Amino acid sequence: MTDLDSLQTEALAEIDSVRDVDALESLRIRFLGKKGLLTEQLKALGKLPRDSRPAAGQKINRIKSRVQQAVEEKKSRLQESVLHSRLSSETLDITLPGRRQNLGSLHPVTRILTRIREYFLQHGFAVVEGPEVEDEFHNFEALNIPAHHPARAMHDTFYFGDNLLLRTHTSSVQIRLMQHQAPPMRVIAPGRVYRCDSDPTHSPMFHQVEGLLVDEQVSFADLKSTLIKFLQVFFEDENLPIRFRPSYFPFTEPSAEIDVAMVDSESGDIRWLEVIGCGMVHPAVFEKVGIDADRYRGYAFGMGVERLAMLRYRIDDLRLFFDNDLRFLQQFA
Ligand code: DAH
Repeated sequence: MTDLDSLQTEALAEIDSVRDVDALESLRIRFLGKKGLLTEQLKALGKLPRDSRPAAGQKINRIKSRVQQAVEEKKSRLQESVLHSRLSSETLDITLPGRRQNLGSLHPVTRILTRIREYFLQHGFAVVEGPEVEDEFHNFEALNIPAHHPARAMHDTFYFGDNLLLRTHTSSVQIRLMQHQAPPMRVIAPGRVYRCDSDPTHSPMFHQVEGLLVDEQVSFADLKSTLIKFLQVFFEDENLPIRFRPSYFPFTEPSAEIDVAMVDSESGDIRWLEVIGCGMVHPAVFEKVGIDADRYRGYAFGMGVERLAMLRYRIDDLRLFFDNDLRFLQQFA
C-alpha cells in the first residue's frame, strides 16, 4: 500500500491551492472518484494480510472523509467568492441621477406657421382651410389658368386622373371661399401643397400661406402696406430692405413678387430673395366665382413657409426640415 499519510497530505495541499470550482472538481475525481487514488486503496485492501485489513480500512475511510470534507469546504468558499465578485462588479449606484425622458418640441415649420397666423389674426384676418386633394377647376381653371396655359407646365402637378390632383398651391382655397361667401372677406389659408420636384430648395411637399382680401375699396397701396408691415414684424427689423418687383400670375393683375435683402454671412454680399407672390385679384377670377368685378376689388398673396423659415433660421437646405434628424430639430427646442 502507498503511504496513506503522504497521500492525505498531498490531497489536502492540492485542495488548498486550487483556484476555481472546475479544477476542484477534477481534483475530487482524482482522489475520491470511482477510480480515484483513495478508492483504489480501498480496493487494494484484499491484498493485505487478513488481520491488518480492519485497521487499514478504517484509516482509509477516515482519510477519505477528511478529504471529502476539505473539498466541500473549499467548494463553498470558492462559490462564495464568485458571488462576491459578481455582486461587486454588478452594483448599481442608486445615488446617480436617473435618465431623463426626452421632451419633444415644435417643428420649425410649425413655429413659423404659428408666427404668420398670429400676425394676421391680430390684423383682422380669419384662418380658413381647403382640401389637399383638389380638382382642376379650383387649382387651375378658376384661377385663370386654362388647360393649355404655360403656367400649368410650371406647376409640376401630381395628377390622380379624373380631374383630381394634389393642390400645387393654396390659391385654390381663394376660389372655394369666394364661391361660398359674399364680400367683404379677409382671410389667410395656410396648408400643405405638392409639386413633383426635389432639390436643396424644393421638396415635393411644402407649405404655403395664402391671403385674400376682397372689399369695395381696395388698392395696391393696401396690399403693399399690409405686406411690408408683415415682413418687418416677421423679421423683427423695421429697416428691412424690401422691394416689389413686377411679375406675372394669371390670377392677379397687376402682379408682383416681393424680395427681401439678406446679407450673406460669409461674403457680406447682399442677396435679394423672393418671399411672397402677390397682386390684385384678376377680374376673370371674380367672374368665375360670381363676384361683381365692377363693385369689388381684392388683393391676394401667397408665401412659401419653408422659404421664410430658411431665411429666419439661416438654413440653406430645405430638405433638412423633412429628414426628422433629432440633432437638427432639437436646435429649435
Ligand atoms: N400661387 C402662387 C404660387 O404658388 C403664389 C401666389 C402669387 C399667390 C400671387 C397669390 C398671388 O395669391 O396673388 O406660386
